[in-house]
Amino acid sequence: MAVWQWLLFFICICVKVTQTEASSWTIDVPSSVKGLLGSCVVIPCSYNYPNAKVQTFTGIWTNDGNQVIYHPTESKMLEQYRRRTKLLGDISKSNCSLMIENLQQNDGGPFHFRIELGGYNSFSYLNKKVSILMIREPNAIDFSAHEDIKEGQPVSASCSVFHSCPTYPPAFHWSHSGEQHFQAQKLHDGQWKATSILTFRSNRTDHNKLLQCRVTYHGGKHQETSKTLKVKYAPVNVKVEYQSDVNEGETAHLKCSSDANPVSSYEWHSETGALLNKGQTYTMSNVSRHSEAVYCTAVNEEGRVRSSTVKLNVLYAPDIKSSSKCFSERGKVMCECIVESRPPSMLHFVLGDRVVQNSKVQTVGSVTTGTLQTDFGSFKFVHCLANNTLGNANLTLSLPLVDNMQNIFIACGAGVIFLIVLIATGVGVVKKCRGRSGETPTSDLGIMKAERSVELHHYAPTKRKEDRKDMSCSDIYANDHVYGNTDCDESIYNNV
Ligand SMILES: *[C@@H]1O[C@H](CO)[C@@H](O)[C@H](O)[C@H]1NC(C)=O
Ligand SMILES: *[C@@H]1O[C@H](CO)[C@@H](O)[C@H](O)[C@H]1NC(C)=O
Ligand SMILES: *[C@@H]1O[C@H](CO)[C@@H](O)[C@H](O)[C@H]1NC(C)=O
Ligand SMILES: *[C@@H]1O[C@H](CO)[C@@H](O)[C@H](O)[C@H]1NC(C)=O
Ligand SMILES: *[C@@H]1O[C@H](CO)[C@@H](O)[C@H](O)[C@H]1NC(C)=O
Repeated sequence: MAVWQWLLFFICICVKVTQTEASSWTIDVPSSVKGLLGSCVVIPCSYNYPNAKVQTFTGIWTNDGNQVIYHPTESKMLEQYRRRTKLLGDISKSNCSLMIENLQQNDGGPFHFRIELGGYNSFSYLNKKVSILMIREPNAIDFSAHEDIKEGQPVSASCSVFHSCPTYPPAFHWSHSGEQHFQAQKLHDGQWKATSILTFRSNRTDHNKLLQCRVTYHGGKHQETSKTLKVKYAPVNVKVEYQSDVNEGETAHLKCSSDANPVSSYEWHSETGALLNKGQTYTMSNVSRHSEAVYCTAVNEEGRVRSSTVKLNVLYAPDIKSSSKCFSERGKVMCECIVESRPPSMLHFVLGDRVVQNSKVQTVGSVTTGTLQTDFGSFKFVHCLANNTLGNANLTLSLPLVDNMQNIFIACGAGVIFLIVLIATGVGVVKKCRGRSGETPTSDLGIMKAERSVELHHYAPTKRKEDRKDMSCSDIYANDHVYGNTDCDESIYNNV
């Protein structure tokens, strides 16, 4: 082999060895890392050294003035870095990551790493220095939430921030309860993205409420952001506002209200379901006691909801029913006056010009019934008077012929039979009674309507005595005059 060949060989060996040596002492560390003042920062770091037998590993971080900011022996460190710096990884496994806590303004560096390999060599990685880019305030929170939520649907909101301290990542706090999920994403140059995702079931009670995300960084710095939740929901609390009392013939104004998002439109229906109107208000003109109950329906894109049914309290003056009457029952005359009105009426019976006191009045709903049982004397009519706040009404009721008529006829019938017996014995008193006995009136004679004007004559006792002499059963039938039961009996016996 020629000399130049040997020379070339050695050069090659040398180059190779230097290359190997040079490439072995390598380090992977970013040139700068962002750090939040007061918080912590982690400088990611991994180093290499030539293949050698190493007994101990001593990792050291120093600044440009070769002052130690980290050393496993604390006393060798600059005072201001003691208890603030820490190697995070396993130094014997090429991990030289450094954490600095409670970052100060003058912690910017640049810093470099030095490894002392016991039993082999030491090396300062001066060619790769790292600076800390100090930031006073964290970047704004990246916040996102669903815009349009429907009630009952799951909502998810996410809140994310950048940081450079994975050992103590920021803490998230949400203003709404729900399931929280944390995500950490590694970026470059020691940057991390921390994300908190909140999921919950939306509720109308959340509508227009702030959803807030609060981030607290290690060291205490915090920031927050919020968004107003918009929840769509079907109408609730659908109700009709109205003035309950309205006079018959007047106009009622009804208004429907509800809580809904988006706002409701309204429909009005009668109780039977017929569509009456569209719109938030409904005007019922000329209301009557027969006006139908109504309800409103609130409608939005989320649903249709009915109000309860509304029935107006229509007020009207008394209306005395034509079924009111006087009648006789078991020999007693009774008057009944039936009035319909709202509010219920006061009811009185007037006999002549005197209000009868002992009438009984009973009210059920809008119907007031008055009953009167008294000594009507010689009166032919009784007046029923009713009044309420809206007006009054009256009706004249005719009093019936007293029920005693029936007894008279029975008495006369008995008299006839007795007389027939007398005829058989030859006494001739019978003649006048004959022919009338078959016409015995029925008891319905007692019921008289107001139109029927049957006069009731009342005879004074003295007059009665005078008349008594020429009294007979036929006289009773011939006249509409009513006599006492005893009168008839007496007259028969007298004639006998
Ligand atoms: C160094 O150690 C830290 C802390 O254990 C770890 O998070 C990191 O991933 C390690 N770095 C490498 C390059 O392995
Ligand atoms: C909304 O919340 C209320 C009480 O907070 C609850 O009663 C209701 O069921 C919830 N609605 C839905 C749809 O989750
Ligand atoms: C009001 O209604 C009544 C019947 O309910 C009717 O007789 C009257 O004519 C109506 N009045 C008006 C002004 O419509
Ligand atoms: C009915 O009229 C009487 C006497 O006129 C009066 O005292 C009473 O307050 C009236 N009742 C009502 C309900 O208006
Ligand atoms: C009875 O009603 C009529 C009208 O229907 C009225 O003119 C009269 O004054 C009333 N009588 C009484 C006693 O209220």
